Amino acid sequence: MTVEELGLADRAAAVALWEAAALTRPWNDPAADFDRARTGPTSAVLGLRADGVLAGTVMVGHDGHRGWIYYLAVAPELRSAGRGAALMAAAEDWLRAAGAVKVELMVRRANAGMVAFYEGVGYELEDVHVLSRWLTS
Ligand SMILES: CC(C)(COP(=O)(O)OP(=O)(O)OC[C@H]1O[C@@H](n2cnc3c(N)ncnc32)[C@H](O)[C@@H]1OP(=O)(O)O)[C@@H](O)C(=O)NCCC(=O)NCCS
Repeated sequence: MTVEELGLADRAAAVALWEAAALTRPWNDPAADFDRARTGPTSAVLGLRADGVLAGTVMVGHDGHRGWIYYLAVAPELRSAGRGAALMAAAEDWLRAAGAVKVELMVRRANAGMVAFYEGVGYELEDVHVLSRWLTS
């Protein structure tokens, strides 16, 4: 399985995957999220293909302290064949090469079933609260 950095031509397919995986939310513009990560100096959207069609994605970014992972998704009909684990390994390789020494990710409470997936690929639950504030208004 070859994981590569995605480009502008992949944007529509990536957004369709995120919608199919129920990862989009009304307050996030997924196409803008894709472009910001794709064009940023310390971030990327990685993807893998099956028969030339985009089959999975993961967004990576290094903030200068930690590496972060977002938008992990595999097409519903292509799951349970190792693609999710392959994307996580590629995300970690990308972040390690960018200088990250630790990687973190967030799981929405409504998606808590995914914690078992992440534990299965080596992650631990942290005892933290995550706080946020929009800087756009
Ligand atoms: C999470 C996701 C990317 C996993 O993709 P996948 O291609 O099915 O994953 P893999 O086939 O590589 O599975 C790797 C391991 O995790 C396990 N696993 C997969 N989905 C799981 C789940 N929901 N809960 C528990 N374990 C799971 C598999 O059994 C496998 O274990 P094994 O190697 O012992 O057989 C996929 O389910 C998905 O796109 N989900 C919707 C989007 C989403 O919720 N993303 C995470 C946002 S936080």
